[in-house]
Amino acid sequence: MKGIILAGGRGERLFPITRAISKQLLPVYDKPMVFYPLCSLMRCGIREVLIITRPDEVERFRELLSDGTQWGMEISYAAQSAPGGIAEAPLIAADFLGEEPFALALGDNIFCGIEFDSCLDRAVAEHDGATVFVKQVEHPERYGVISFDGDGVPQKIVEKPTEPASPFAVTGLYLYDNAAIAMARALKPSVRGEIEITEINDQYLRQSRLSVVQLPDSVSWLDMGTPQGLLEASRLVEAEQRTPGVRIGVPEQVALRSGWIDSEAAMRIAASYGDNDYGRYLRQLVESG
Ligand code: DAU
Repeated sequence: MKGIILAGGRGERLFPITRAISKQLLPVYDKPMVFYPLCSLMRCGIREVLIITRPDEVERFRELLSDGTQWGMEISYAAQSAPGGIAEAPLIAADFLGEEPFALALGDNIFCGIEFDSCLDRAVAEHDGATVFVKQVEHPERYGVISFDGDGVPQKIVEKPTEPASPFAVTGLYLYDNAAIAMARALKPSVRGEIEITEINDQYLRQSRLSVVQLPDSVSWLDMGTPQGLLEASRLVEAEQRTPGVRIGVPEQVALRSGWIDSEAAMRIAASYGDNDYGRYLRQLVESG
């Protein structure tokens, strides 16, 4: 499976913070935002990732993430000329994807909690058609909302409904087979002028080819696209990391545990951070085996 991180857009809900810099490069506690969705993809076992950004930000993302070889990965870059919708991601990535299935991660979504890994493992192993991860939220009207019948069978997905039919939001991590590219090609822009990922998910649902994974209470999920979400995410990461030995969103950690890099490579990266907190954590990680 290949991976896409959609990290473009204007980030208008965060203006003026994002006037001169992409939202996904902003700090979320002690790391750049994009590290978190990158780790979500890495935890799916994905080593080939395409980062889609605003044209003027490609080089800045490249400076941060390089070509991925430092983590035993292949990271490449593509530009989205204007924010025409999340469903543009598979179109921009069509050459990169070829015939492969793929995961799409929104660059402003963070997940954490130890059970998240097992949810991903299961979803990737059982994947067929499309898979969405859903979470019960207080304000479903801000998201894509999925409703279920009395037997828990999914009925419909609607983007930002004024009257949500359920409290279940569709989060920004999606697994698709290659058919999603053709579906995206056939989409027409919605009233907000975007081609909507929700319409693709709803098509899979109507074809009975959508798997819905309900994230357990122990897994936290946040959309970091608003000032409140950004602050809450920093608080969440800081709180989780108060437990000794726990870090969220550390690509070196996932790469090391997955056997994509060895301890020597991790130590070299640690050395590049000098004696700062991140470097010390990487050294501890290697030393603790
Ligand atoms: O966070 C989950 C929600 O994300 C889902 O529940 C919704 O169904 C989905 O439509 C999306 O809603 P948002 O309103 O939060 O999407 P937003 O416009 O903030 O875009 C999400 C990310 O994708 C963000 O990092 C910016 C990037 N993006 C967005 C668009 C529309 C692009 O890179 N290009 C785009 O054209």
